[in-house]
Amino acid sequence: MPAAAPPASALLHWYDRHRRALPWRETLRDPYRIWLSEVMLQQTTVAAVAPRWRRFLDRFPSVQALAAAPWEDVAAEWAGLGYYARARNLHACARAVAARNGFPDTVEELRALPGIGAYTAAAIAAIAFDRPVVPLDGNVERVTSRVHAVEEALPGARPRLAALAQHWMAQPEAAGRPADFVQALFDLGATICTPRNPACALCPWQAECAGRRAGIADTLPRKAPKRARPTRMGVHFLLRDAQGRLLLQRRPPKGLLGGMPGLPGTPWRAEGWDHAEALAHAPAPGLDWHALPGEARHGFTHFELRMTLLAATLPPGMAAEGEWWAPAEAARILPGAMLRLLALAEAAGAVASPAGGA
Ligand code: ADE
Repeated sequence: MPAAAPPASALLHWYDRHRRALPWRETLRDPYRIWLSEVMLQQTTVAAVAPRWRRFLDRFPSVQALAAAPWEDVAAEWAGLGYYARARNLHACARAVAARNGFPDTVEELRALPGIGAYTAAAIAAIAFDRPVVPLDGNVERVTSRVHAVEEALPGARPRLAALAQHWMAQPEAAGRPADFVQALFDLGATICTPRNPACALCPWQAECAGRRAGIADTLPRKAPKRARPTRMGVHFLLRDAQGRLLLQRRPPKGLLGGMPGLPGTPWRAEGWDHAEALAHAPAPGLDWHALPGEARHGFTHFELRMTLLAATLPPGMAAEGEWWAPAEAARILPGAMLRLLALAEAAGAVASPAGGA
């Protein structure tokens, strides 16, 4: 590797004084707790994760407890965190780990577990087991591209950035404290080497940073231009019973919001739905469905979802498939996209009690 590694000792010295006090750093290096934090942190900010991480552990204190829990409880505990495939994989992984009596301690064996990719395997191996590997997250990509002034755009530059960051770990100071070195890189990226206005004057690697010397640090990493997010349309059904409860149906296990509860609805597609066409997906036939005003929007990674609501009341004695939930209770277990529908229903005066925030 031609480029010289920036000194691990300077970064570790900085980390010893400025490390963030994060809840998963306060306890022993329990791989279950580390794994959970890493899965939560993949798409969610540190500030949002901290209270949810604690709450999750109160409810499922060990990997055995999580493995033994019914899926509905795991889904309810994950509600609002988004990216629900993570929760399904989490549950599957907990079962695999419980069956083999604990987490393995090598990258290769960790990767073989359900839902554990290259990043998570490296993060657990380094942080829980002090293996000298560097997980490449957005922070590490940014720090590495700047220190070595890599101008090749992401995602193509990723293998090169991963190799450079791994090369840093070859220094004896880093390899002697892998868990700290990796978390120091995360903290440097999160607090000093930030996407905008990096605080280079405070950086322990300012003298070695080629991006800074070239005056381009804050323009790195370069990114391939993003395509515009397409729109998809859906119609959902707000069916109330005589007590004002709502009908929820569990979504199919695969696909978006898989296994999560939701208001019944049409598939989501590029074209809009006309009333008659949408009614073919209604949870009970022959009711007087009327459209509520407005629409709810929710941003998924690959598209923007626009949803409208048709509302009806189920006459006594008639059945519909699903479960009946009081609106305030439903708000605790529904994913964010469905909470937006609940807010729309609330604004239209179609649900009685406040549904709560997203
Ligand atoms: N981002 C991802 N993993 C992290 C960790 N363990 N600490 C801080 N930020 C992180």
